[in-house]
Amino acid sequence: MLLPRLGLPLATALSFSAAATTAAFAADSAAPLPTRITVDVAHPGHAVSPLLHGIFFEDINYGADGGLYAELVQNRSFEHDDNLFSWAGVRRGGAGGTMTVETENPLNAKNPHYVRLAVTAPGKGFGLANSGFGGIALKANENYFFSVRARGDIPLKAVLEDETGRPLGECALAAPGAQWKELEGTIRGTAVARNARLVVLATAAGHADLDVVSLFPEHTWKNRRNGLRADLVQMLADMHPAFMRFPGGCIVEGKDLLNRYQWKDTIGDIADRPQNWNRWQDAVRQTAPNYYQTYGLGFLEYFQLCEDIGAEPLPIINCGMACQFQSKELVPLTQIDPFVQDALDLIEFANGPVTSTWGAKRAALGHPEPFHMKMIGVGNEQWGEEYFERYPIFYKAIKAKYPDMQIVTGAGPGVDAGDEARWKLAWDKFKSGTPADIVDEHFYRSPQWFLDNVNRYDTQDRNGPKVFAGEFAAHDGRAKKNTLRAAIAEAAIMTGFVRNSDVVTMTSYAPLFAKEGAWQWNPDLIWFDNAHVYGSPSYHVQALFSRNRPDVVLPTTVSPLPAAGNAAAKPSVYVVAGLDRKTGETILDVVNATDREVAADVELRGIARLAPEAKAIVLTSASADDENSLDTPDKVAPREETAKTSGSGLSHRFPANSLTILRLRSL
Ligand code: AHR
Repeated sequence: MLLPRLGLPLATALSFSAAATTAAFAADSAAPLPTRITVDVAHPGHAVSPLLHGIFFEDINYGADGGLYAELVQNRSFEHDDNLFSWAGVRRGGAGGTMTVETENPLNAKNPHYVRLAVTAPGKGFGLANSGFGGIALKANENYFFSVRARGDIPLKAVLEDETGRPLGECALAAPGAQWKELEGTIRGTAVARNARLVVLATAAGHADLDVVSLFPEHTWKNRRNGLRADLVQMLADMHPAFMRFPGGCIVEGKDLLNRYQWKDTIGDIADRPQNWNRWQDAVRQTAPNYYQTYGLGFLEYFQLCEDIGAEPLPIINCGMACQFQSKELVPLTQIDPFVQDALDLIEFANGPVTSTWGAKRAALGHPEPFHMKMIGVGNEQWGEEYFERYPIFYKAIKAKYPDMQIVTGAGPGVDAGDEARWKLAWDKFKSGTPADIVDEHFYRSPQWFLDNVNRYDTQDRNGPKVFAGEFAAHDGRAKKNTLRAAIAEAAIMTGFVRNSDVVTMTSYAPLFAKEGAWQWNPDLIWFDNAHVYGSPSYHVQALFSRNRPDVVLPTTVSPLPAAGNAAAKPSVYVVAGLDRKTGETILDVVNATDREVAADVELRGIARLAPEAKAIVLTSASADDENSLDTPDKVAPREETAKTSGSGLSHRFPANSLTILRLRSL
């Protein structure tokens, strides 16, 4: 029985079809738009993919260096093209000497540059200062671990200073001697500072060679050395992501092949990891000159992060192709074997026994247990015959050695407009015998496109490869801001993902992170500066869907049925329902993409009676233009309410521009 009936006819048929779950309305009055939502609890449909909601990480927008990776020193190894980028010489009170960049007899071949201090008089301080990634943010009473690879005959000290030069803590280091040696010290931060710098000073005359100058807070995620920012990881953990795709994105491809991501460069001692120029530095926004990848956040750290947050690892490897928008460089087929071997070695690194070559390396790095990696991506968003000449070689070699490994295949950078032919070629290949397990589709389109495409997978071939919506985001207007409007459009398509999750088995928004004032691409899921982090409205949509993923889909109808014509172009409501078998709750995701409140009678068929109170988690705001920011991080944030039920249903008001998750328990 329902609470006050709205006088609408019940839908005559129950269906999984998206057409039946979309209601369009004419927005010609301020009165709530009436409808009825009917859920058939007695006839559950297909299982919802347990991998449906994941995350996609790439070092774009300072996502890794200067972001998730907690290193506070920028250009710690002096390997940027401007070797002293982010560094400044310091000469105080009678000090004298020279500071030069040298390459003779370096720390190692992968790290060829270092700084030499030749000090004639230490005065009140001779050395160099690092300004971090747009300043160093310090906490009071936090320990900071300083380290440096050094050689020479002078003792050193490392000092934290605020922008006025006020010291906020220091540590002393004995002269290292003639051979390269790692010196370590702990600095107790004495005050909060937003724009501090690290100053390394010689305290006597003589010489010192310095490399890999590093500073980490003690409290990283799980307090790991060479660790990650705890607040940023917490944001990821809170999403309960089922998988994590890494390390990109375009950086996997590289501007050219030399610049491609090579996972073997990213493991072991940080001093042995060569720096690589980040191709995002010259991208859309010119905010990142000298943006480099230190690979301090490398493949061991990625796998560990996945393990920590319960996400299946999905590494993507280069398939012998550089970015097809840039150099278009290709590895000749006769020279592709080392690329294939890299993929096979990666699987062994992740999963192999400690007696295997790469399993032994993993064990030597402190992780003897395998990571149980089950998926690998071959290429990022590659397209064309060049890709389909290369990718099957990887597929065959991987399956021959690891038959259970699921392989993610690219389908180009988009699915329509200028990308349609590339996307179509890929699917034609799969239909005509090119093997594929999971196909990665990307869409960065307008909010309206998202609404228009809620049903795009309803007609997907159920016998073909699975789909991974691996990169998507609604780009709202020319400014592409992280508006509530964009988030609601994404929520709408997510209802289609859930409803079709027998074939759309994985999804992830992109990009994941962006640093305020230092980004190349927007919109993004999570924004941060050196001291704070907040989720965009889109973040809340992703987290809400992920945290409320049902186990099976339930047939659902929305009545009145859509108007004839281009219904999706009109303000719309989108619903998907499912069952949480663990709690026995029915979960409804209701997206009201209209500018009007919707008043709905919700009826659950096949249950006797609901518990008198249901949980409603609502994401909305006063205007569809609303965004979150550092100043107003929770302007658009979910709030939890109690909804009263009656019999087997409830009457509920769904605010304009909202996502509501209803959790209903039957007695
Ligand atoms: O997410 C940003 C970029 O978009 C990714 O690196 C690439 O795969 C896509 O073009």
